[in-house]
Amino acid sequence: MRSHLCGTLDSAAIDSTVELSGWIHRRRDHGGVIFVDLRDHTGLIQVVFDPDRADIFRIAEQIRSEYVIHVKGQVRARPAGTENPDLTTGSIEVLGTELEVVNRAKTPPFQLDEWDVGEEHRLKYRYVDLRRPEMQQKLRLRAAITSRIRRFVEDDGFIDIETPMLTRATPEGARDYLVPSRTHAGSFFALPQSPQLFKQLLMVSGMDRYYQITRCFRDEDLRADRQPEFTQLDMEMAFVEEDDVMNMAERMMRDLFTHVLEEPLPDPFPRMTYKEAMHRFGSDKPDLRIPLELIEVAGLMTDVDFKVFSGPANDPDGRVAALCVPGGAAMTRKEIDEYTEFVGRYGAKGLAYIKVNERGQGREGLQSPILKFLPDDVIETLLEHTAATGGDLIFFGADKARIVNDALGALRVKIGHDRGFVQRAWCPLWVVDFPMFEWDDSANAWTPLHHPFTAPAVDNPDELRAHPKQALSRAYDMVLNGTELGGGSIRIHDRGLQEAALEVLGIGLDSAREQFGFLLDALEYGAPPHGGIAFGLDRLVMLMTGAASIRDVMAFPKTQTASCPLTAAPSTVNEAQLRELGIRLRGKAAERAGGQG
Ligand code: AMO
Ligand code: AMP
Repeated sequence: MRSHLCGTLDSAAIDSTVELSGWIHRRRDHGGVIFVDLRDHTGLIQVVFDPDRADIFRIAEQIRSEYVIHVKGQVRARPAGTENPDLTTGSIEVLGTELEVVNRAKTPPFQLDEWDVGEEHRLKYRYVDLRRPEMQQKLRLRAAITSRIRRFVEDDGFIDIETPMLTRATPEGARDYLVPSRTHAGSFFALPQSPQLFKQLLMVSGMDRYYQITRCFRDEDLRADRQPEFTQLDMEMAFVEEDDVMNMAERMMRDLFTHVLEEPLPDPFPRMTYKEAMHRFGSDKPDLRIPLELIEVAGLMTDVDFKVFSGPANDPDGRVAALCVPGGAAMTRKEIDEYTEFVGRYGAKGLAYIKVNERGQGREGLQSPILKFLPDDVIETLLEHTAATGGDLIFFGADKARIVNDALGALRVKIGHDRGFVQRAWCPLWVVDFPMFEWDDSANAWTPLHHPFTAPAVDNPDELRAHPKQALSRAYDMVLNGTELGGGSIRIHDRGLQEAALEVLGIGLDSAREQFGFLLDALEYGAPPHGGIAFGLDRLVMLMTGAASIRDVMAFPKTQTASCPLTAAPSTVNEAQLRELGIRLRGKAAERAGGQG
């Protein structure tokens, strides 16, 4: 149906006859001559219809945006002065000699160059939305990325093995998507939150190096970088330690960025402990493109006459930190109020500040609602610690360390973007030495920072039981420009140590047996030491394409409320289907289902 692709023609084709197929991108009537921009996946070409060919001119008059057409014509140079430098085909055009409307189209729900469209609407007509050249480009780059990754890992000895989608719940910490079983009425499969347990079993099976590009399902609160259904590049290796996995992963990323984007990544990636990351950036996924850091000032505030600071300064779980914003003294009251409201979302009760109008004039050069609480020597040391100079502003967070880190960590990133401090660069890093466990106040229990199969740095089960708070894990996260791209660990391959870790988590032997006894059993049949990592492929593609959300790099994503406007999923099902599954809806669910038919 075509001899050439629209976007690939150039002046070399002048005088030849071509046959093209595609969509009407734009049609313009210019006093008796009709110009059409014809589009396919390679780009646009201008086709001209002259009135002296009355038969096809009449058809050309009727074609509209997004009609599918087939044309035959002669390539010619555009008349001088009418070239379009924005198009790769801008120096030529096709004079149409035959024209066929292959399929008509209703008026599109939005123009392809119109972006101010509600996301529901875009997703409902995703097949039109995906015609946009920008969307085409993202999905094509995504394909290039997965293709390069497969080549690299296969050359490195990894084999692609599929794992079940209908399985048991895996404890990655989110809520499960459940699938009712008809043949075992009353029982449910869970869709995998990750292939974690299966990839460990594959190591026990002697597969040595496994990988899979696979879908994972997590019913959790959605954000720009979180979807209920997303894709992992999942990997596992036998007989390895941390450095083996991390070096492999780094080499893969460098290979990918070099070949797909032609942009180098650092060699090696910097490594930072969890403790240092929290201390300097208030985050375990610091964006190193932003040259701002949190400064610990609790030591200065233990005796000041300001409870807001002295309280947390004297609390072992508290933190008082400062964030110095270069040039920030020019901020208006309104801007400061907006930042105060912003940190409030992270639980901060306020956002104290000092404007440094003049440095070197002591108290006189400063402006702040909290100056009256701070003695001269504290002020001077504070200015030294924060290295503030004239024109800067210092923000303060004082509270439980977790709140200060969340609030100032997020504020650092926001200010970095608002005030143009974000450098243009790729800044990957590894975060290592995570704590094994984290205390969850609401559950009144230890929870794993990664997952329960992560090996602790100590290999003595009794030591782990005795000092869970101090225990570090053998986990590592890869972070790129403030996004957690991937995470993994060396796993526990010893049943005794695995039971100790589960015990700390309050998962008793019976409950462990019931949830993943098959893994505990496997550890007793010759499990090799092993470890691995999983990358969020959507996040990687989002960063590499410069997209604002992972939804923009998925062909058919869900909305923020985990639904699909295109297919109207999830949907109610009929009574007979439910009966077959032995399911009866109750309460609100029954009302909603009844109401919808
Ligand atoms: P983890 O839970 O850290 O580890 O997931 C690995 C990576 O997957 C991505 N990711 C997501 N991407 C989009 N939407 C989501 N809802 C979502 N959740 C996670 C992130 C994350 O870094 N089994 C372990 C890996 C291992 O230990 O080997 C796991 O799944 O980029
Ligand atoms: P107040 O005395 O409560 O009016 O607070 C004085 C200043 O301290 C105001 O600028 C508040 O925004 C700020 N502030 C109050 N609580 C905190 C806190 N927990 N951390 C940082 N600043 C705070």
